[in-house]
Amino acid sequence: MAPILCSSMPEIKVGGHIDDIQELRRARPMMVPERYIRDNSERPRRARLPDSLQIPIIDMSKMIRESDVQFHHELAKLATACEEWGFFQVINHGIDTHKLEDMEEVAREFFDLPLEEKEKYPMKPGTIQGYGHAFVFSEEQKLDWCNMLALGVEPPFIRDPKLWPTNPSHFSETLDKYSVEIRNLCQRLLRLIARSLRRVNENVFNEMFGTAVQAVRMNYYPPCPRPDLVLGLSPHSDGSALTVLQQETDTVGLQILKDGAWVPVQPTRNALVINIGDTIEVLTNGKYKSVEHRAITNKKKDRLSLVTFYAPSYDVELGPLPEFVDEERPCMYRKYIHGDYSRHYVTSRLEGKRTLEFAKITEQL
Ligand code: OGA
Ligand code: NI
Repeated sequence: MAPILCSSMPEIKVGGHIDDIQELRRARPMMVPERYIRDNSERPRRARLPDSLQIPIIDMSKMIRESDVQFHHELAKLATACEEWGFFQVINHGIDTHKLEDMEEVAREFFDLPLEEKEKYPMKPGTIQGYGHAFVFSEEQKLDWCNMLALGVEPPFIRDPKLWPTNPSHFSETLDKYSVEIRNLCQRLLRLIARSLRRVNENVFNEMFGTAVQAVRMNYYPPCPRPDLVLGLSPHSDGSALTVLQQETDTVGLQILKDGAWVPVQPTRNALVINIGDTIEVLTNGKYKSVEHRAITNKKKDRLSLVTFYAPSYDVELGPLPEFVDEERPCMYRKYIHGDYSRHYVTSRLEGKRTLEFAKITEQL
């Protein structure tokens, strides 16, 4: 999740690291610097998994009219997806494919620019927006094989217009149009997710979130001569309520942790990958899961992913909803203000689900 540090937040040294892999590859195509080489235990291994092991695919066109039998069938599929996988892909989501393709195109054009051009939008130390690498805090920390551009989108006060690329010229306009569509999709999904839980009103999340925070991170993974030694993106869960990921269909890179195995997400044409973030896990008292995931690299092909994080307004207080707390499932998380969690998230390394310990109740009284 790439929430934005408010100006009132104390100065903390985060992000601000530019270690451009595309430049590195131009100079030394076969080189993998030490800082990217993972310890043995973290390296991606080829797992033998059945091809059928796949995150569920939810057809949103089946969830329009409640009077249809298929509505309830698909809603039940959605409930299982959120409970057992924390991840699913949506098809027939209603977003014009041109808007998705246009966004992909301008993002690619941006990453293809020479470094001097991309450096005009630097992620400065103490910030987490711009071109660079967030979540880097020490010289010893291993780096991800990925170049990133992170931008706050909504509400307007989190935007830093100086960091919105003017090259390619239609970048900002394209991102704005794209973000409106993704925002509507998130609100629609949150209504459906609320319904699938059966115990709460369908507007519960949208009403509670206020003016939701929306941020985007574009991840560009150049090819890597030794994909077996590096990670594209370290394992983490997302600090958002929902995350929407768009990816190209010709490479596989995203993997999710399921029953101890890293399961690849097979890209599906015109589908969007959705995952449950930490906010929904907390609100549902762990019924719906924010699942750990990571990205790996490929030897021959690069990969681009466009990731939108949709989260409550910073001032919203979160904690398990009473409908999900009972004797069988005692309250697992304390109450906290989302802005405080966001700050905690962006000032911590990406390290599995560790950030959520912020909210975990470890001892039952
Ligand atoms: C993220 C993320 C995965 C990917 O940006 O939070 O999980 O495949 N990205 O880029
Ligand atoms: Ni993620």
